Amino acid sequence: MIQARNLTLRLGRHPAQVEVLRGIDLAVEAGETVALLGPSGSGKSSLMAVLSGLERPSSGEVVVTGLDFARLDEDALAVARRGRIGIVLQAFHLLPTMTALENVAVPMELGGARDAWDRARDELDAVGLGKRLHHYPAQLSGGEQQRVAIARALGPEPSLLFADEPTGNLDTATGAEIMDLLFARRAERGATLFVITHDAKLAERCARVVRLADGRVVSDERRA
Ligand SMILES: Nc1ncnc2c1ncn2[C@@H]1O[C@H](COP(=O)(O)OP(=O)(O)OP(=O)(O)O)[C@@H](O)[C@H]1O
Ligand SMILES: [Mg+2]
Repeated sequence: MIQARNLTLRLGRHPAQVEVLRGIDLAVEAGETVALLGPSGSGKSSLMAVLSGLERPSSGEVVVTGLDFARLDEDALAVARRGRIGIVLQAFHLLPTMTALENVAVPMELGGARDAWDRARDELDAVGLGKRLHHYPAQLSGGEQQRVAIARALGPEPSLLFADEPTGNLDTATGAEIMDLLFARRAERGATLFVITHDAKLAERCARVVRLADGRVVSDERRA
């Protein structure tokens, strides 16, 4: 599902250039649940950006869901990512001028799904928002907004789901509900899950825990 070899990433310009990733090797099998831990600034979000095709590595190989990122130009990559890779971020990133339903359906429609609106309704129903379809993000609580973001990520039925601190902006109880939902929806779909977190409890729910420090993988453990 994910094959990364000797990935490096340098960001910024001299003299502020930072070597953010310093030779990452990582292989993730289909269906795995992987928690990515590490101190702030260790490169977790950067690694996710590279593995999800949002950012190009400075060197190294990335093959994800069968796509060799180095061989695809930006447009081809953007198209290919749709329907294969879903992303949930800490800050939800919903479009404020669109309702919950539009936030989920419009990207699917742009991706070419013919039944985008019906599927968006089903997805929102599945995350418990069947009665909030026509609410705008500002009319939804943080937890509800993250539910919309999960529905949007899962709508195109990706085989790989990335989540970067999906509960980081939520209180503990709401965060726990969102994680239950994320794991439940992932299991129903059989999608591979790669989740960045600072929460040790959350990491325990994953079958595998990868730790980063200073742009390198410092441990990689599978639960028995
Ligand atoms: N555009 C950029 N230009 C220069 N340096 C950057 C840029 N983006 C990120 N960095 C640096 O890269 C390092 C890794 O950042 P990253 O966001 O991946 O860390 P993180 O592990 O996700 O941290 P956090 O837990 O705080 O989210 C940091 O030191 C950051 O300052
Ligand atoms: Mg981060």
